[in-house]
Amino acid sequence: MKRKVLAILAVAGLVLTGCGGGTGGSGSGGEGASGDKPKIGVTIYKYDDNFMSFVRRAIEKNADKAELIVVDSQNDQAKQNEQVDTLISKGVQALAINLVNPQAASAIIAKARAANLPVIFFNKEPSQSDLQSYEKAWYVGTASEESGIMQGQIIVEAWKAHPEWDKNGDGKIQYVMLKGEPGHPDAEARTKYSIDTVVKAGIQVEKLEEQTGMWDSVKGKELMDAWLAKHGDKIEFVIANNDAMALGAIQSLKANGYFRDGKFMPVVGVDAIPDALTQIREGYMVGSVLNDAKNQGQAVFDLAYNAALGKHPTEGTQWKLGEDKAVRVPYVPITKENLHIAEEAYK
Ligand code: BGC
Ligand code: CA
Repeated sequence: MKRKVLAILAVAGLVLTGCGGGTGGSGSGGEGASGDKPKIGVTIYKYDDNFMSFVRRAIEKNADKAELIVVDSQNDQAKQNEQVDTLISKGVQALAINLVNPQAASAIIAKARAANLPVIFFNKEPSQSDLQSYEKAWYVGTASEESGIMQGQIIVEAWKAHPEWDKNGDGKIQYVMLKGEPGHPDAEARTKYSIDTVVKAGIQVEKLEEQTGMWDSVKGKELMDAWLAKHGDKIEFVIANNDAMALGAIQSLKANGYFRDGKFMPVVGVDAIPDALTQIREGYMVGSVLNDAKNQGQAVFDLAYNAALGKHPTEGTQWKLGEDKAVRVPYVPITKENLHIAEEAYK
């Protein structure tokens, strides 16, 4: 029985190959070759997100192996839903989706299911119940809490090494928190675990401010401007959920007379993007946590590529799927001492 099915498949395969060859023979030689490449539809939640531009680049590096259609969802979930419809109508064989709203996974899954297409979510993690609801859905990202814990460890070590940073000498860290997008698993976990880690290390904290800068540099600067006007030197630490906001805060601090004449403010971020590495090297930033854009982008491509060809998503790759249907690329704490690790990851 099995053999018979295989035989039929083999014949079907031959017929299909025959068709492809025929097309190639009739003049358009390139068509046969590009016909072998799977078509993959990719959405990025918004192109002007610093970190996502590196993930996109890592995905697009593989453009020779597949026909990639990559679109900018411009931070608009309704727009992204329409883009997914268009990608499906264009005949993509797999979807790679960076959701705008992490809660919108079920709507995308419904579309993928109706078209019987695999879908690889990335960066904005869907709920487990959404992922488990469709056998052809997977996730590529990180273990969000790990970044918070590592950021907390950087804060603890730096604080212990610099007793002079406790400007009011009360033994507590008076901090401000630049939060990413509310409801984003990375933002929620980093906000919680960075502080939990500091407290667990026996250091008391006092939160002066916590607001969302929406992962954005300009918003980070605006918030820091306002907080400096309000609290001035009462602020002893700036903790940012990502580097873009940390860089905005550093701009504000520089404009407000910090980093000269003995005036200093410790700032930490997450991502370890190249601009942040420069600030760390020059001593304006205490540290960051490498969010490995290169490997996340590569994993997204590899899984989508395999799935598009009807293979198991991790077949023949270095990636491991957990019970949670996720590939999680590890974070790495980055300070002046190990900048080269992050430099490598953004090459
Ligand atoms: C990154 C942020 C980015 C966000 C986008 C996070 O993992 O750290 O820099 O803005 O993803 O979803
Ligand atoms: Ca203090």
